[in-house]
Parts: sequence; C-alpha cells; structure tokens
Amino acid sequence: MIPVTPVDHPDVTDWLEPLFAFTHADAQQLIADFHTEMHHGLSGKNSSLKMLPTFIGRPSGKETGRFLAMDLGGTNLRVIAVKLDGKGQAQVGDTSRFVIPVEIMQGAGDRLFDFLARCVQTFFSLHDFDPQRRYDLAFTFSFPVDQRAIASGSLIEWTKGFTASDVVGKDVVALLAAALHDRGVKNVRVCALANDTTGALMARAYGDANCDMGVILGTGSNACYPETRLDRLSGMSAVAVDEMIINMEWGNFDKLTPTEFDRMLDRDSPNPGRQWLEKMVSGMYLGELVRLVIVAMIDRGSLLTPGDQRFFTNPYSLTSAHLAQPDAMAGFGLEHIKPTDAQAIARIAELVFNRAARIAGTAIAAVVTWMDSELSRSHTIAVDGSLFEKYPGFRRQMLAIIDELYPERADHIQLKLTSDGSGTGAAIIAAVAAGQSHR
Ligand code: BGC
Repeated sequence: MIPVTPVDHPDVTDWLEPLFAFTHADAQQLIADFHTEMHHGLSGKNSSLKMLPTFIGRPSGKETGRFLAMDLGGTNLRVIAVKLDGKGQAQVGDTSRFVIPVEIMQGAGDRLFDFLARCVQTFFSLHDFDPQRRYDLAFTFSFPVDQRAIASGSLIEWTKGFTASDVVGKDVVALLAAALHDRGVKNVRVCALANDTTGALMARAYGDANCDMGVILGTGSNACYPETRLDRLSGMSAVAVDEMIINMEWGNFDKLTPTEFDRMLDRDSPNPGRQWLEKMVSGMYLGELVRLVIVAMIDRGSLLTPGDQRFFTNPYSLTSAHLAQPDAMAGFGLEHIKPTDAQAIARIAELVFNRAARIAGTAIAAVVTWMDSELSRSHTIAVDGSLFEKYPGFRRQMLAIIDELYPERADHIQLKLTSDGSGTGAAIIAAVAAGQSHR
C-alpha cells in the first residue's frame, strides 16, 4: 500500500472517499456492537461472533517437549517439528511446505485429508524421521470449529475459498487420524486441535506474560483472547480452569455497513451472507474490492478506457500483492496508463486498505476494552498474517485509529508481529494439553 497524495478526481473525492471512510463515530459504534455480540455469543444467544471455547488457557512458559505441528488454513500447508525448552523459548526445526491444489481445496473431503496424511509421510521421508518412534502432532486447522475437547472438534463451515465436501459437521481430528491410519502412518497421535489465532497468542504468551490477544490479518481474519469471567460462558463453568481462550471468529461479525461493492463481492463469493468483516478486512478480498471499484469507474467513463475492461474481467485476478507494488498496474499487465489514472487507482487501493486497517485496529480495541475497560494495564497483541507483516501502512493505520480512540492510553496496546504461531503456538498447545491431561 503506497501512500499517495490527494487525488483531484471527482469520482474519487466526492463518491469513493466518503463511501470507504471509517470514521471515529463508526469506530465507537463498532466497539459497542462488538461488546453486545461478544456477550450474546458467550451466553449462547444468537450472535455473529461465534465465541468458540478452545479448552485451553495460556501457557506458563515452562512447558517442554518435542512436537510436530500441521498447519492448514490457507493455500499452503506446513508440517513442522518444534522443541520447547521450558524457558519461554521454542525452536522450530525441520519444516516442509506444500501447496494445496485448488481441486483438493474444493474437491471431496476424504481426498483433502488423504492429502494431509501424505504430506506427513513426505515430511518423515524428507527429514529422516524414525518410523518406530511415536510423535504427538498438533493440528492447526484455521476454520470455525465447534470444539468439544482439546483434541476434538467439528467443522462449522468452510471459509477462505475452501469447499471440500463432507467435512462440515465432522470431527476434523478424527478425519485426520483416520487418514493417517489408512496411509499406514501408525506412529503419529493427533493430540491437539488449534486455530491460527490461538497459535499466535500461545507463541507470544510463552515468553510474554502481558500477551492476551492473538489476531490474524492474512488471507482471512480472526482473533482470540482469554476469557476469565467463566460465568459468562454458557455451560462452561463446570470446566475447572481459571481462564479459557475464546476463538471469536470475528471474521463473521455482521454489524458493519457494507458498501455496494462489499455487497457485490459477497453475492458472488462461495459463502454469501457470511464472513462480512473478513470480506472487508482480509487479504483474500481487498484486491477483489479494488477490482470491482475499477470496473465500475471504467463503466462510468471516469477511469482508463473502455478497452481496458478486459484486464479486469476475472474475479480475484487483482490481488493484495499486486496492490502492494509501487507500480501496481504495470505489475498487473497494464503498462503506460495515464499518471492521473495510476494515481486514482493507487488512491482507491489506499481507501480500501485504510478502511480495512481501521476496522481491524478498532476491533482489537473492542476486545482489549472488553478485558480491561479502563485500559489500565499493558496488553501485548500477537499479530500474524501477510497484511500486517508486508504492508507497513496497514499497521500505521491500525495504530492511528487506536490512538484516536484512546489518546491517553494507546501505548497500553502493543501490536507485535508473531510469525510462527501455527508451528510454535500449536506445539505449546499440545504441551499445555499434555499437562492438563496429567493433572
Ligand atoms: C477462519 C478462522 C481463521 C481466520 C484466519 C477465517 O476465515 O474462519 O478460523 O482464524 O480465517 O486464518
């Protein structure tokens, strides 16, 4: 996202700038609506925030052990070996990455799980693992899951373009265990189920006691935090723990006002009517929103030429990665456009990304003030994902709205890039789970 100077283009200034503005008043409304939805979600009432219990609290930093972690949540799959030293440090060892073909993401569920099992086999053979030794594997499965125990949970719905059949409603740990068994991998026990947000929170909290929130701003978006007022968790008070991390599934929050472009994107997405906040905030969708705006402006005759339409006909062809480049349109195959058009497109991208960052920053503020209404203590927020990592302007805009909202206490919210949550964090979850089962 390249900061641009104000653009002298009537459609941009009079139409798009107000349309994509996310004002101070919008932010205050979001915080109030988040608190209501969080309360409803926790107390079992109808809510767009699922507020899913994860059956785990934060680590002490003393957890030890060697674990494998499998990370499924986007277009890549990773298998990782992790060692925890018990002193707040984790060592990531052998790692294998696999690209998940679209036909696997969107095909039959048993093929997807067989693919995962084959990746574990490949990992073992690439890194000379002992087939006789037993390994505990933590499964980071970054989709909404109705968790029943630390190593059991059924998929509520797919997000982020996954549609594999016959998985919704099934226990994904059981599916992975069965696929491993069918492939003859008998020395691996799937011992924990994690979300990438919990992974990020655990990875940071292992060495930082102030860390109380995990946030993902990547292909998808979501957050988790430890809930201490367990009386608010319907049916959970029987679990003997001091706190439980809640996977909010904030991507599904639906109290924001969508623009006509958000509605168009939603209508043609694989999951219409779902994941409204995610579709306004996360990397999978921001390029598509910009594409839809560009197409509308070409139609109105106020940008590029009618002949340029053909560059923008394919959904999802314009990506966040294109828009991060200094000369986004050249990278997209459109060379030699007028400087005023290039400026207008850069400004449109800036509007869409800024709105996303301001919504994300406000949502973080909402969760932090839920935990600590006066912002009286320091909160480290473990943040992972390409938007946060690769677009410096994104973090700046998140901090700007937090500062606008809480000018006196904004420094009590520290955003820390936490890159290996899904590996390290998942291993820590496995270790905490092992500790819990021994208690
Ligand atoms: C999923 C979440 C996940 C987030 C970030 C969303 O689409 O529903 O479970 O944490 O993406 O990967």
